[in-house]
Amino acid sequence: MEENLALVARLRAAGCVFAEDEAEVLWSTARSSAELDTLVGRRVAGEPLEQVVGWAEFAGLRILVSPGVFVPRRRSEFLVGVADALIRRHDARLSQAAPGSAATVIVDLCCGTGALGLAVATAIGVGLGGRLTSSVELHSADRDPAAVACAERNVVPAGGHVYGGDLLDALPSALRGRVDVLICNAPYVPTDEVAFLPAEARDHEPLVALDGGLDGLCVLRRAASGAPGWLAPGGVLLGETSERQAAEMASAMSAARLGAHVHTDEESGATVVTGSAPGGPPARSGRQE
Ligand SMILES: C[S@@+](CC[C@H](N)C(=O)[O-])C[C@H]1O[C@@H](n2cnc3c(N)ncnc32)[C@H](O)[C@@H]1O
Repeated sequence: MEENLALVARLRAAGCVFAEDEAEVLWSTARSSAELDTLVGRRVAGEPLEQVVGWAEFAGLRILVSPGVFVPRRRSEFLVGVADALIRRHDARLSQAAPGSAATVIVDLCCGTGALGLAVATAIGVGLGGRLTSSVELHSADRDPAAVACAERNVVPAGGHVYGGDLLDALPSALRGRVDVLICNAPYVPTDEVAFLPAEARDHEPLVALDGGLDGLCVLRRAASGAPGWLAPGGVLLGETSERQAAEMASAMSAARLGAHVHTDEESGATVVTGSAPGGPPARSGRQE
């Protein structure tokens, strides 16, 4: 009890706002007091809790997080919810038109740990032992080798595939024209604003995971311009942005001939821009502007 109070006080003094919760996570992870000391030392030195303990909770899943890999943000659970709602609507239409139609193909570009794609795939088709069912195919990709290695730990055991490379170039060409859901939670902080991010992000997450170029939308814009060649009819691209970037990103989706919509969630402050390829139901879901 006293040790626990001392740990909470130490975490609080180091600036951890949720010191009690963090203490509990650290206690439950460490297998010995020596290991607890090491973990707490790393945490008070500023490393993100999730990298210290090696996992993050995301959309009800335990996602493995390796040091130096972007920690999935709870805000991104909104994107998972939007994707899930769109797939269900799309599938309802498809099964009316063609009962027993093929698996839903999900691609997670800029996947980091692989959390978002895995959460969407799990929401629509998971079986025993967390393995994806035949109703869903999951393909995840990232250009950072550390992220690829981490995503392999999360996605491959569930039956998904992981690739390394720049955006859509990383994917096997057999996926062209077959992607139902293309998630791209790319970096979207404008280059000039990276310096103002919390030290925890600047010091422990790679620049390639944070810096979205001049206006923050450079990576997502490139994904949008390439997306039509990969999306199935009615397939949808989803990307997270800040609120002030949403209109510009919606224009980029329209310029790529995708039907653009902006979805916002007041509670988490999340904004998601979707772009739908022609040939399917409109990409309306969740709370919208
Ligand atoms: C903001 S992090 C998001 C990670 C993950 N989607 C999530 O939400 O937890 C952005 C990710 O994009 C990757 N990335 C940046 N530019 C990329 C590119 N041109 N091609 C592929 N991946 C890229 C980074 O390595 C990083 O893992």
